Amino acid sequence: MTYTSFTVRTPIVTGVPRHIAIIMDGNGRWAQCRQLPRVAGHAKGLDSVRTIIEACVTRGVEFLTLFAFSSENWRRPVDEVSFLMRLFIHTLEREIANLHTNGIQLRVVGDLSMFEARMQELVRLAEAKTATNTCLTLTIAANYGGRWDILQAARKIAKQCVDAGTIQNINELNFAQHLAMAYAPEPDLFIRTGGEQRISNFLLWQLAYTEFYFTDVFWPDFNDVELNKAIISYRGRERRFGRTSSQLTQQSQTVDDSLSC
Ligand code: IPE
Ligand code: IPE
Ligand code: MG
Repeated sequence: MTYTSFTVRTPIVTGVPRHIAIIMDGNGRWAQCRQLPRVAGHAKGLDSVRTIIEACVTRGVEFLTLFAFSSENWRRPVDEVSFLMRLFIHTLEREIANLHTNGIQLRVVGDLSMFEARMQELVRLAEAKTATNTCLTLTIAANYGGRWDILQAARKIAKQCVDAGTIQNINELNFAQHLAMAYAPEPDLFIRTGGEQRISNFLLWQLAYTEFYFTDVFWPDFNDVELNKAIISYRGRERRFGRTSSQLTQQSQTVDDSLSC
């Protein structure tokens, strides 16, 4: 029996990752190393957020996704959680005009119903104000969990099936269209700072073929130079998406040939 090869849509791979997703970890330990309260690390981490947004714009990255608060982070001490909420509100109030001026589109993904009304309203206004910006799409994952995301997509599809009175054709493509980040391509490069090597319930579905980069650097120390190291590492990877190395060489040869015509 012979098997015919079939075509699966795979992303186009370039030297600059189109989409970078980051778990900004290590704020608390950064502060503790300096005999500061953990929350001082969260405040300092904001400087890195600004630096990395700018660095992504400069490099032509189209999508930057930052994990700011996981669905499991409610388990932290009450004082730390309320500090993070205040910081989030304050940052939205202070930074949104600046993001808009720089052509950045802001999106917030996660179960926002858990946040206080003021925060929900600010998110709504910020998203509306920046909706048509095209320089960089900055997504903040807040009260986000990959399992929550897959479940909410499954619920929407189940409802559609009930409403239609039939089980429609459910495939990977239309399932993904119900995920919170359906507007973005899957991340090319995942970065986790702070030394842990786990996903911590981040983009479970979307990271299936993402390149992973872990660094011991704490998030408040992460900067342009550290981002460069991650991108250099990414460039050294061979993204095969299930194929063999020689298939990729043949494919790039075909692309080169067609370019030289
Ligand atoms: C990440 O830093 C920020 C949030 C989860 C909000 P941490 O606060 O987890 O810092 P460490 O891992 O305890 O050092
Ligand atoms: C992941 O970091 C969540 C964010 C950075 C927002 P955590 O510090 O909460 O992850 P775990 O608990 O160490 O896995
Ligand atoms: Mg942590």
